[in-house]
Amino acid sequence: MKILRKYLKKPPNYSFEDPVQVDKRTKLTNKSFIGRFSYMGKATVMGDIHVGRFCSIANGFSYYSGDHDMKSLTTHPFIYSDDMFGQYPGYKDIKYKQNIKYQDAEFSSLKIGNDCWFGADVTVLKGCSTIGDGAIVGARSVVTKDIPPYSISVGGPAKVIKFRFDEEIVARLLRVKWWKFDLSILKDLDFSDVGKCLKFLESQDE
Ligand SMILES: CC(C)(COP(=O)(O)OP(=O)(O)OC[C@H]1O[C@@H](n2cnc3c(N)ncnc32)[C@H](O)[C@@H]1OP(=O)(O)O)[C@@H](O)C(=O)NCCC(=O)NCCS
Repeated sequence: MKILRKYLKKPPNYSFEDPVQVDKRTKLTNKSFIGRFSYMGKATVMGDIHVGRFCSIANGFSYYSGDHDMKSLTTHPFIYSDDMFGQYPGYKDIKYKQNIKYQDAEFSSLKIGNDCWFGADVTVLKGCSTIGDGAIVGARSVVTKDIPPYSISVGGPAKVIKFRFDEEIVARLLRVKWWKFDLSILKDLDFSDVGKCLKFLESQDE
């Protein structure tokens, strides 16, 4: 069940701009950030994420910022980490005998722009570090590379199938950054007419 973070007794460990909604089963690192009006369902996030404003992230989102060591005898992390089974006799000794400093070194982080929409069950892997503003990623996609702004990408590996708007409109949207405006300004927009919205917002900036 989704809950408004501000009503939690225990403040979240990540930083955010109020209000945001993050499923209470979703654990984020303390270096992560969620921008205002963004919401995220039940997700598995292994790494730091920075999410812009007005993002919709459906249930089943996963981000894996690194891989296990693939060159040693085993891919099991017991050769460089005693996190999981440290209590088991002898488990810790394995790590200390090895010279493998694997964790952290290879881990990256993910920046998600503003107004992005992730369909259900999207997986993002370490090859992707940026999802551009306004991007849509289709249900069950596996994202292995950066995703350009205002693109619609689907599949595994995710590929751009189209853009939401033509190049000129996208350039103007990226300049005007509608998500930075206060709701008291956004309330007068006719959201179904992007051209009109742009004209109005561009005039606000002058
Ligand atoms: C990505 C998405 C928004 C695209 O919608 P659309 O623009 O109407 O796209 P279309 O249905 O016309 O599909 C265009 C092509 O992409 C393919 N496609 C669409 N979504 C796909 C997906 N998630 N994975 C793989 N292929 C997909 C279609 O098969 C079609 O292929 P074709 O041209 O070879 O026939 C939509 O398909 C989607 O995945 N929505 C997410 C829904 C969801 O998860 N909702 C729950 C959370 S809110």
